[in-house]
Amino acid sequence: MSPLPPAPRRRLQSVNETEVAALAERLTLNVNGRTVVVEADPDAPLLYILRNDLELNGPKFGCGLVQCGACTVLLDGQPARSCRLPVSRAVGRDITTLEGLGTYDRPHPIQQAFIAEQAAQCGYCMNGMMLAAKALLDANPDPTEDDIRRALDGYLCRCGTHLRIIRAIRRAARELAGRTDAGAVHARQPREQEVARR
Ligand code: FES
Ligand code: FES
Repeated sequence: MSPLPPAPRRRLQSVNETEVAALAERLTLNVNGRTVVVEADPDAPLLYILRNDLELNGPKFGCGLVQCGACTVLLDGQPARSCRLPVSRAVGRDITTLEGLGTYDRPHPIQQAFIAEQAAQCGYCMNGMMLAAKALLDANPDPTEDDIRRALDGYLCRCGTHLRIIRAIRRAARELAGRTDAGAVHARQPREQEVARR
């Protein structure tokens, strides 16, 4: 039996700092309501700039192939997958990451609902799920379960917490509507009392 041929040697190409600097441009981004300037290769994925340069670790690297949704951000309010999106394409647009939704002390109702329903298991998909939910509820404050399922199509959860995620989005929708309704309830009270007195 003839011996196996030697494995081909991979040639690693090194890029030195001068070459990196030659690719970099100054780009102005609007992230979570702040204007920031980064020096980056305009073709670099937005995800890398957010995580590595701006230390915004809400968006996650999952597949890197626009397949899983872990890297989602909102661009002008619409979900976009940042793992393959050249950063230059985000210039001049409003970029919202999970950090822009709420804070640790003041979480957004969507974040509160995900916590209340214990929707996260490992948590890796939560960034995409919550930002998809934000875009959905902004466009459709009272979604049906089918609407929610359609909006989450293409967002993968490897832990299988889909049913809890759906419950969380329905809870968030109720709570967001409750806030609006709260004013209406107060406005209705005198009328209801009047009716009761008659
Ligand atoms: S990491 Fe971007 S879609 Fe999976
Ligand atoms: S909670 Fe683990 S991937 Fe969704």
